[in-house]
Amino acid sequence: MAFWSSTSVFTSKVPRKILFMFTLSLSVTYLFYSLMSCYNSFQFQENYVYQGRLVTEETTFVTLREKLYSTSSQVYLDEEFVESTATEQTIAVSSVRNSVGIDERTAGWVRAQAATTRSAAAAAAGEPLEFSTTDSELRRAVNCTSDYGVKKLPQAIIIGVKKGGTRALLEALRVHPDVRAVGNEPHFFDRNYEKGLDWYRELMPSTLEGQITMEKTPSYFVTNSAPKRIHSMARDIKLIIVVRNPVTRAISDYTQTLSKRPEIPTFEVLAFKNRTLGLIDASWSALRIGIYALHLESWMQYFPLSQMHFVSGERLIVDPAGEMAKVQDFLGLKRIVTDKHFYFNKTKGFPCLKKPEDSSTPRCLGKSKGRTHPKIDPDVIRRLHKFYKPFNMMFYQMTGQNFQWELEEDGNSPGFRD
Ligand code: A3P
Repeated sequence: MAFWSSTSVFTSKVPRKILFMFTLSLSVTYLFYSLMSCYNSFQFQENYVYQGRLVTEETTFVTLREKLYSTSSQVYLDEEFVESTATEQTIAVSSVRNSVGIDERTAGWVRAQAATTRSAAAAAAGEPLEFSTTDSELRRAVNCTSDYGVKKLPQAIIIGVKKGGTRALLEALRVHPDVRAVGNEPHFFDRNYEKGLDWYRELMPSTLEGQITMEKTPSYFVTNSAPKRIHSMARDIKLIIVVRNPVTRAISDYTQTLSKRPEIPTFEVLAFKNRTLGLIDASWSALRIGIYALHLESWMQYFPLSQMHFVSGERLIVDPAGEMAKVQDFLGLKRIVTDKHFYFNKTKGFPCLKKPEDSSTPRCLGKSKGRTHPKIDPDVIRRLHKFYKPFNMMFYQMTGQNFQWELEEDGNSPGFRD
């Protein structure tokens, strides 16, 4: 009652005009704040979406990396399988390989890998070579190269990937008069680093003014310490990476090991920790090497993309001159190695060089390059394509190049061959 009476007193004492102005200003203020809050929420929404995209991209990589790191000691879960039997998989994950529980199969495999490492180290130390990626028929002793000029540290290195087509690329590059390359794999940045840069330089062929010194060691790409070491030697070095469909690459890698150790388990056995449960063994080096995005991340911490060139292993087979043109451009060389230098050898099933560096007679790569692969269960191949897909996508995004390996699932891409 008192309230009403005081209100009516107030109303009666204040002129109507002032009351109107007061109400109007209140309304305007309200409208202003409403609009501001709308704008803010609109902004937030935009910001959120924008951030969301960023976060999603980062998260994707983090997730992929975590997935991988967790699989390097454990196993990778085939996504398709997660959908079908999630419960069983949970049990499987908790029971997979523990720190001491590496099974006999893997232990044997690790021993085999160690043996390969030992033979490569012996090779780099000048002992008779017997290691994977060097083709014995093409191998040249360092001192066979011209003595003119001076030995220099390399200005360009083919750092990977194993079984990508690195030998074919190096041999084609050696045809170029402005390229001098060491024939075998020095393995300096992974196995012989303690020998020092003078040792490394001594392995290189002599070069004249204007010639580029090169080497290739495909294992650098997957060696954690290599980017930092190479950067500390030459921060402006050019890096070449030959990449190939990781599934085909894995089979090629396996084929190579099988040729030396026929007793190893089948590809299907090695590819899975537990095939029934769909547990892919990403810790198996043949599979791990093909997770290119992960390895590339380490290189990108030291080198800009402009210093890296990615060669398609598939196109190197179907269009060697086309790939060579791009490589020569990248190296700042004249396009001297062209289609005139290649011919397709039907018996070999691959392009061969009409005139290799050290000979005037045509020559194909040796028997260890372009081997027939064993037949692998199509279901395993399909699962591996699925496993690699997100990593491949990330790799395409990082490099800005689409290698179209997904098309190979249907077997309709150039260079597809299993
Ligand atoms: P496959 O033997 O599985 O077919 P790297 O030299 O890095 O070890 O790569 C070997 C791969 O190079 C071979 O794998 C083959 O597919 C590929 N390659 C590319 N061009 C080639 C060529 N001209 N001759 C032979 N192999 C070639």
